[in-house]
Amino acid sequence: MQPGRKNATVVIPCLIGLAVMTGLVAYSPVLYRVFCGATGYGGTTQRAYTDPGTSSERSVTVAFDANVAPGLRWRFEPEQRSVQVHLGEQKLVFFSAENLSDEATIGHATFNVTPETSGIYFNKIQCFCFNEERLDPHQKVDMPVVFYVDPAFGKDSDNEHVDTITLSYTMGRSVSPSEAKNLSRFLADAAPDAVHGQELFSQRCSACHALDKNMTGPMLGGVVGRAAGSVAGYNYSPALKSAHVSWSRDTLSDWLAGPQKFVPGSRMPVRVLDAPSRHDIIAYLEKLGEQHGVSAHARASAPEY
Ligand code: HEC
Repeated sequence: MQPGRKNATVVIPCLIGLAVMTGLVAYSPVLYRVFCGATGYGGTTQRAYTDPGTSSERSVTVAFDANVAPGLRWRFEPEQRSVQVHLGEQKLVFFSAENLSDEATIGHATFNVTPETSGIYFNKIQCFCFNEERLDPHQKVDMPVVFYVDPAFGKDSDNEHVDTITLSYTMGRSVSPSEAKNLSRFLADAAPDAVHGQELFSQRCSACHALDKNMTGPMLGGVVGRAAGSVAGYNYSPALKSAHVSWSRDTLSDWLAGPQKFVPGSRMPVRVLDAPSRHDIIAYLEKLGEQHGVSAHARASAPEY
């Protein structure tokens, strides 16, 4: 076989393969997401519901990149070029999006993390990229992303010399717009969503809290309006027990944003960094309080966690 022909037998199948893969990625974000989301490989990231609870000395720079695919008239950009994080430390960052067109449009973000070896350690707790997102004509929103880099990153020899991880999003027109959420939920005056709050509660609180019994954390049924550290039979930290705080919308929001900052010496190892998630969880807890007040029966039939 002549050298030229031999090369062609290798190159042509490669080109066909490349064309197929490019086609898949370009025209089927859903397929791409299903595959990469399920495996976590290829530089895609993990979704997490809680933080790892440990933070290490080693830090890494996380850089952000945002692109808009042709066909979507949105402006979309990170509000910070990069941040420095300790491994295991939760971080809140913002991306802004603006619909430049005269019609409501639905976008969907696909994401990628480089170098590829860092993708499986990159965990997102809150991200607009979990949903199809609708933006009204000329509306502009700041969208929170909460993430952390798993401390195991520091023990992986493949990542020994990695000091910058780049998180890159591409916002494109949605292919399944019927499932879209409205980005107006991130506007400062948005009404909180108790149904979403219930979902967040089961993902992020129910490992330690039940509504009607003490577990690792105190029971939370009827917490709104209650004095902090006051549930009988629960072994509170001395700090929370003597905090003289009454749980209201505002104090709960401050507590969830940073328990140790709000009540130094307290022992809850979890934070909810973005305000919209806090407001939704508090709306759910408030709603339970109302049901509790109306009748014992309503409370008995409330969902169990
Ligand atoms: C890993 C376990 C854990 C998780 C997850 C957790 N908590 Fe807690 N929570 C605790 C502990 C422990 C305390 C008691 C802290 C102390 O005594 O200082 C507490 C206390 C509280 C209190 C104060 C209650 C009182 O009686 O004064 C509230 C309110 C609360 N948690 C809300 C939440 C919410 C909402 C979530 C979900 C976003 C959550 N917690 C997730 C462990 C947890």
